Amino acid sequence: MNDIGRAAVVTGLGAWVPPTVLTNEELAGRLDTSDEWIRSRTGIRRRHVIAPGEATGDLAVEAGKRALKSAGASSADVVVVATSTPDHPCPATAPDVADRLGLTGAAAFDIAAVCTGFVYALGTAAGLIASGFAQSALVIGADTFSTILAPGDRTTRAIFGDGAGAVYLRAGSAAEPGALMGLHLGSDGSRRDLIEVRAGGSRQRSTGLPAEEADTYFTMAGRAVFSQAVRNMAASVRSTARLAGWDTEDVDRVVLHQANARILAAVADQIDLPADRFPSNIDRVGNTVAASIPLALADACAAGDVRPGQRVVLGGFGGGLTWGSVALVWPDVPAVGPDHAPGS
Ligand code: ACO
Repeated sequence: MNDIGRAAVVTGLGAWVPPTVLTNEELAGRLDTSDEWIRSRTGIRRRHVIAPGEATGDLAVEAGKRALKSAGASSADVVVVATSTPDHPCPATAPDVADRLGLTGAAAFDIAAVCTGFVYALGTAAGLIASGFAQSALVIGADTFSTILAPGDRTTRAIFGDGAGAVYLRAGSAAEPGALMGLHLGSDGSRRDLIEVRAGGSRQRSTGLPAEEADTYFTMAGRAVFSQAVRNMAASVRSTARLAGWDTEDVDRVVLHQANARILAAVADQIDLPADRFPSNIDRVGNTVAASIPLALADACAAGDVRPGQRVVLGGFGGGLTWGSVALVWPDVPAVGPDHAPGS
């Protein structure tokens, strides 16, 4: 990450989804939708959802525990939780997650960049390691969007699922496998209204008026977001490959935020790479927001589709609008996931 060759190196990967599965058929029994519509428009067949009383922090702890196990680590100087569905508006979720993982005393904070959150969190933690502030970091992406979707909204209910994924980083050399490089991050706040929860923040609370119920739920202008997602992720992947010193065609795997199977195909088309270089688990988990990239990565590693030595780019796009990507040569690291995913 810097000129003197010190870098953040991935040495652990963990994933977790709650055991409860919600199929398209079950959704079609409650909403005006169908398995056929959801599968053909998004590629999603099912998603996992939390049980009543569960929260994002619970999923983050499970994923974090597995990343620590994968790395063979029991300490971390920094714990970052990327989430847009924190356990509480205040305080951040990360200090509690760190404490529950036995990492009390670590610097712990949340990052909110919606579906790009995991890449922003990786970049932030990598910077803390590269600068010498930290020797190690646990970076977790976790979200429970099932808690902020309007019960009757077929356009969002069909898409989102709950989950968490995590990587462990330690200080190392920029030359070793697993070293993060070629970080590219961006935003366009002028399009913030395309993906939002209107109420619940200081802008609404300062009016002194109660929130309209509809404004307390998540909304997304799907069609407008689609084209932005394709354009910005394609450009970001190209930039990251260039920053890493690679030609785009030399990238072996592009693990993108799983928003829609058609978006993955369109990005592949736009950057002229074969679609089979884009691992996907969206059919089994849906869009899991900040958890999406590490969950897809863990599934692809477990399936042997992402292998040690491959040139990999991780890329995301989401509310803000925000986007970003980062490159690494995949290290020899085992993915530790839940027994009930992804095959159940
Ligand atoms: N079942 C049946 N019909 C539906 C459903 C559903 N689940 N959802 C929407 N429809 C209907 C709409 O009401 C609309 O009907 P109308 O024409 O009568 O008005 C019609 O289908 C078409 O709706 P669109 O929204 O235009 O459908 P589209 O093909 O664009 O698919 C989708 C919607 C899946 C959301 C797509 O636009 C998409 O994937 N967008 C990008 C999402 C994304 O990348 N988000 C960024 C990350 S997410 C984040 O940051 C939190």
